Amino acid sequence: MADVNQQTIIFDDPQALAAGVAERIQGRVQAAADRSAPFHLVLAGGSTPQGLYRQLALGGERPDWSRVHFWFSDERCVPPDHRDSNYRMVRETLLQSIDAPARNVHRIACEDAPQQAAQAYDAELARLAAPGRRWPRFDLVLLGVGEDGHTASLFPGTPVLTVRDRGAAPVYVEKLASWRVSLTYPVLNDARRVLFLVAGGKKAGIVSQLLGANAQNYPAGAIRPRGELIWCLDRAAAAGLPGAAAERR
Ligand code: 6PG
Repeated sequence: MADVNQQTIIFDDPQALAAGVAERIQGRVQAAADRSAPFHLVLAGGSTPQGLYRQLALGGERPDWSRVHFWFSDERCVPPDHRDSNYRMVRETLLQSIDAPARNVHRIACEDAPQQAAQAYDAELARLAAPGRRWPRFDLVLLGVGEDGHTASLFPGTPVLTVRDRGAAPVYVEKLASWRVSLTYPVLNDARRVLFLVAGGKKAGIVSQLLGANAQNYPAGAIRPRGELIWCLDRAAAAGLPGAAAERR
């Protein structure tokens, strides 16, 4: 397997993690400001990134969000104002506080049937792709990890893990008895940079698996971008790692 340019950074606590990752994101967006191409950012769902998004919202007009395209790693198949909606979470913690043009926010329209929502997202990815490509090459993908080693909605044992011909696909999650739409491995692994954001002692076990020899046993372990892979952890989530495994902040 091709080597991945990987690094692990450990922060004291969730607040330091949010502040440190927010600073990295602001820096990356700012550094791309003089490029003609837009900055394509994929946002993770769930609870962990909420502190980060609130931190980014505090930055106001820094960075210049007007050239950033916001995408979603996955979505629950619920209406956009449902309490479980990742879009609603991102709107409330970040988007409503920054000046991001609505045309640059690419929501997964999960009020539609899962297959239809996935096909529509795949078409939106293609619409924004450079000539000859199926999807944009994402500048930065934020991802979380579940205790079972899933990431986005790439859950263990689901058919979406084998999808190679589309950028987005529907997935039925048996244990949650619910449908989701997820970005797929080809589009995630094509990214310039993937950043896992993981916090809390409950994730220490899966983190030590994913940063150890058994990574390939889990869906998150197959995230091997051709660009950079950065694990940003708080101390609690890093508790199972050997001492020298990471740079501490
Ligand atoms: C989602 C996410 C999912 C999440 C993990 C971790 O829609 O839930 O995309 O992959 O990142 O389940 O979730 P927590 O941050 O809530 O632990």
